[in-house]
Amino acid sequence: MPLSRVAVIGAGAREHAIAAVLARDVEVLLVPGNPAMAGVSSEGNAIRCLAVDPEQLDALPEPIDLVVIGPEAPLVDGLADRLRAKGLLVFGPGAAGAQLEGSKAFMKDLAHRAGVPTARYGVFTEQAEAEAFLDTLGPIYVIKTDGLAAGKGVLVTDDLVEARHDIAEKLSGNAFGAAGRRVIIEEGMVGPELSLLVLCANGHGVALPPAQDFKRIFDADAGPNTGGMGAYSPVPVATTAIVHEIMERIVHPTLRQLQAEGIDYRGVLYAGCMLTAEGPKLIEYNIRFGDPEAEVVLPRLTSNLAESLAEVARGGHINEPTVTSEATVCVVIAAEGYPGSVRSGDVITGLAEASTVKGVQLFHAGTSTGSDGSVTTAGGRVLCVSARGVDLAEARQRAYQAVGAISFAGMQFRSDIAQLAAATLREKDPQ
Ligand code: AMP
Ligand code: GLY
Repeated sequence: MPLSRVAVIGAGAREHAIAAVLARDVEVLLVPGNPAMAGVSSEGNAIRCLAVDPEQLDALPEPIDLVVIGPEAPLVDGLADRLRAKGLLVFGPGAAGAQLEGSKAFMKDLAHRAGVPTARYGVFTEQAEAEAFLDTLGPIYVIKTDGLAAGKGVLVTDDLVEARHDIAEKLSGNAFGAAGRRVIIEEGMVGPELSLLVLCANGHGVALPPAQDFKRIFDADAGPNTGGMGAYSPVPVATTAIVHEIMERIVHPTLRQLQAEGIDYRGVLYAGCMLTAEGPKLIEYNIRFGDPEAEVVLPRLTSNLAESLAEVARGGHINEPTVTSEATVCVVIAAEGYPGSVRSGDVITGLAEASTVKGVQLFHAGTSTGSDGSVTTAGGRVLCVSARGVDLAEARQRAYQAVGAISFAGMQFRSDIAQLAAATLREKDPQ
């Protein structure tokens, strides 16, 4: 039976993008979503927002054919297990598999058992032991919180004093509370990064088109790490051979290891990889679609996303999704102060004009809509402006044209998203 109604749990730009792509084929309920995300797709399917308890999705008057859990926190908390126990078809790993993101120590230990290439590391709760391990590494030093920190718990530095200070701040609980009381220290790796989103079920993975994310707040990769300031797809450095190597050396050994340990992983596995001189290495796993990677990867799919996610949720065979040759670029617009503490309540103008730019879709992240229809800032990452074009250069030009129409006090965005890649592709393929 074809799917007709899908619930998406979450309220960010990633969930907005998931909903928009699903709505090509099915009706979507966002739980809770954000009023700015509601509407009707060009195919005539409604996207509605429902402020119900996600735990009660089995009790809605209208039956739900599939539940897609967007963010990591409810997955780590076991929501997928509880909804499955109620008989719902759920896309997203249970609590056991979600530890891959919920605990970086679990992730690194599992990768080690699976023989996956990844940076040398140690796990510590005591300052003296952590510093002794640090002394065995040369720069670059990498210090991470064990628990969830919204992409902000990682310090990469070549300054030993700064590394020691960061360890003290994390272990004391000052910097990230309980999430930082255990730290992972890693040797630094060097090379371009790649985000590979892989649909996984039954110990097997199907890769979606690769994307590249921009993690630092400022142009030229300066400033602190954020949740992601922009992304693009396709990625010129991610050849078919490299994607194959990542699947064979990193993803499939991990999926086999999960199965061997009795973990039935049904969802997306986000492999954050670094293309080092010794080949691709795993940086980290996330257990959900990347944000903002989802905003460039999912719009490139031309097959039915709801059917693909349902295949994953059923735990059987996953058919290879089809993908357009068109490129996508997204630029994240953040509030003043991000990734630190941010100001909310600034009025956003120019949204209507921005959405008239050809190929552009606006995905709402941290916005709030007033009763008069005015839209204000309500979070760190505020909007994601995603555009498609025949190639990266055209998609990029359209995304920045739309960004140029949007304005609010203190708005921040990077001006170099996909710049290098767009130039590379132009050289190779001048059409
Ligand atoms: P993570 O949250 O683990 O993905 O780390 C955030 C970012 O920190 C990554 O996207 C990398 O840019 C950087 N990073 C993490 N681990 C390493 C490492 N071992 N070597 C170099 N950079 C790293
Ligand atoms: N863009 C990075 C993440 O989703 O974790």
